[in-house]
Amino acid sequence: MRIGIVGGGQLAKMTAQAAQRLGFTVTILDPTRDAPASGVSNRQIVGDFFDPKKLKELADVSDVTTFDLEHVDTNAMKTLAAKGTKVEPSPAILEVIQDKLEQKKFLSKAGIPTSPYKAIDLVEPEALKNFGFPLVQKLRRGGYDGKGVAILNDERDLSKALVGESFLEKKVDIQKELGVIVARSRNGNTKCFPVVEMVFDPKGNLLDYLLAPAQIDESVTARAQDLASKTVNALKGIGVFGVELFLSKNGEIVVNEIAPRPHNSGHYTIEACATSQFEQHVRAICDLPLGSTEQWYPAAMVNLIGSPDAKGPAVVEGLSAALSEEGVSVHIYGKHETRPLRKMGHVTVLNHDLQKAKEIALKIKSVLKFRAGVEK
Ligand SMILES: Nc1ncnc2c1ncn2[C@@H]1O[C@H](COP(=O)(O)OP(=O)(O)OP(=O)(O)O)[C@@H](O)[C@H]1O
Ligand SMILES: [Mg+2]
Repeated sequence: MRIGIVGGGQLAKMTAQAAQRLGFTVTILDPTRDAPASGVSNRQIVGDFFDPKKLKELADVSDVTTFDLEHVDTNAMKTLAAKGTKVEPSPAILEVIQDKLEQKKFLSKAGIPTSPYKAIDLVEPEALKNFGFPLVQKLRRGGYDGKGVAILNDERDLSKALVGESFLEKKVDIQKELGVIVARSRNGNTKCFPVVEMVFDPKGNLLDYLLAPAQIDESVTARAQDLASKTVNALKGIGVFGVELFLSKNGEIVVNEIAPRPHNSGHYTIEACATSQFEQHVRAICDLPLGSTEQWYPAAMVNLIGSPDAKGPAVVEGLSAALSEEGVSVHIYGKHETRPLRKMGHVTVLNHDLQKAKEIALKIKSVLKFRAGVEK
């Protein structure tokens, strides 16, 4: 099979590695010449994700075209799909997901529990007050890594409101943030990976660490997996999807949002599970049987992000110290430039004892740093 990927970031990189192991060839489309996936792909088309000519060039050399990001030109992809190009997941699904308000409407229509929401025409104090605090304002488009989300606890937070087309939703009193990776194939077969628990840094809305499996009751695990599968079935999605959920303090589970691609919360599957989320994605979009999602070892994962004060050629510090720990797999994405809080890599720690894995992961996070070096 020849696989085309729109975008050449870390998700494309890890997908390409899984595809190549199966003997498939990979072409990526990315405007940056040294994008993370470029070194592990058979070919890179250098071009903009929104350039219909480049998208066609990619589709022409691919048996199936997929995505590393959801902010793509869905109209151009739809045109290609209408002409017979196989695009998975379908551009119509990306269109729903790109607009967080449309995504909420979709979830509600499908009968999937989600935090109550309301569309607003203008971000005015009256509209926010009428909805009631505490609330979460979300921009409809373009948000990622918590950018595009404002949590307003009371009237004093009105100045934190974001500018732009948005909607409001009730703030959930979160006990835990959960994630489930779901794969679905064309014949409707779905498989869920274990439920994971994402612990966020209260400062930047950024993932602090992740535990797999989540430390929750079996009944909560079963409900979370059931909701995640229902969501992906309702979308009729083909490929791997990351479903983010909130477990509230009173034990309710709601779906927060869907990513139409492999997800940060599934990186641990590379080392910890029988099949990685990336191989699973390749299997699903290539109409191959889905693999076992069994987890062999408990795992903790931390993201490696650019130091808040550094911008420039990326230099890694502390790699030897990190690699001297037991059960550690370091993934460095190969982004040329480090920027404040940019995702530069991740580390998965396997250990028979999940708490021990978490301790090692946090230790590594404090020693492995990206600083800005000088241009070579
Ligand atoms: N309704 C809500 N109630 C409470 N907290 C929320 C709510 N919606 C979002 N949050 C918090 O804000 C974070 C970011 O929200 P969301 O996942 O919708 O945005 P995002 O920009 O797509 O983030 P990411 O790319 O990290 O997934 C959530 O992980 C959660 O901590
Ligand atoms: Mg999110």
